[in-house]
Amino acid sequence: MEGGTELPKGAHPSFARIIEQKERVKRNLTGIKHKIGVYSAKGGVGKTTVAINLAYALSLRGLRVGLLDADIDCPNVTMFLGMEEKMDPHAPLHPPEKEGVLVASTAMLVDEIRKPIIWRGPLISKMVSDFLEHTDWGELDYLIIDMPPGTSEVPLTTMQLLSLDGFVIVTTPQRIAGVNSMRSGLMAKRLGTHIIGVVENMSSGKPSAATNEAAAALGAELLGCVKNDDRFNAGSDSGEIPVLKYSDLKSDFDEIVNRILT
Ligand SMILES: Nc1ncnc2c1ncn2[C@@H]1O[C@H](COP(=O)(O)OP(=O)(O)OP(=O)(O)O)[C@@H](O)[C@H]1O
Ligand SMILES: [Mg+2]
Repeated sequence: MEGGTELPKGAHPSFARIIEQKERVKRNLTGIKHKIGVYSAKGGVGKTTVAINLAYALSLRGLRVGLLDADIDCPNVTMFLGMEEKMDPHAPLHPPEKEGVLVASTAMLVDEIRKPIIWRGPLISKMVSDFLEHTDWGELDYLIIDMPPGTSEVPLTTMQLLSLDGFVIVTTPQRIAGVNSMRSGLMAKRLGTHIIGVVENMSSGKPSAATNEAAAALGAELLGCVKNDDRFNAGSDSGEIPVLKYSDLKSDFDEIVNRILT
């Protein structure tokens, strides 16, 4: 087999294909030192907000950072960043740069951002694996991956194909978010992906009982709290990046970055 991967004797061809693909992804991403997914099974808790601001907070430390929008059918990263750049769809994909961070998203491959991307699961999974296999990120210190909600297709494909450093699990103070973040984290752990820690987003500043419970259930540390603040909403509309603009919002993310870097 290409790359010299040893297959278990008598392995089913589908299994062999996944192992081969995993090898190709690994080869394509050899220039990346750390890969972190930002994840929760629950929609709307702020995965994209946290992924973007985390990417820029890391970049502000002088690190070379890439941001992959793995929300294939509802890609939001480019809108949050006010990016209108398109990518040539022929491999390898070259992610454009915004304020020093390389960004790749399916939104850069469609002609009209408002058009819905209506794909069944297998096509969505294929797109994620194509991004992982065929994007030319060059040398990066960190690749941050903005995950979609749910516990199927994209999260599953990402966990299968990618050796992540781990997930940052995003939750909000409410119990329902805590329970869903537990679900996401437990799924990841079951598939062998490490949980780096939990971020409470839209926070009062002090973690709720539900957040503490979720972190404890996952055996993960609380990386920090991101305050509930309208400037995050304003930023997502205007394309301005909150951590680059406001020092108090940056300091919420600095705390998270400090914990990730230790
Ligand atoms: N800390 C915050 N304070 C105030 N508003 C926030 C905060 N974080 C996120 N938001 C707002 O909440 C909404 C949802 O955020 P975001 O899109 O980041 O969530 P998501 O988890 O990525 O959603 P999806 O599951 O749809 O991908 C956005 O309008 C965003 O601006
Ligand atoms: Mg999102």
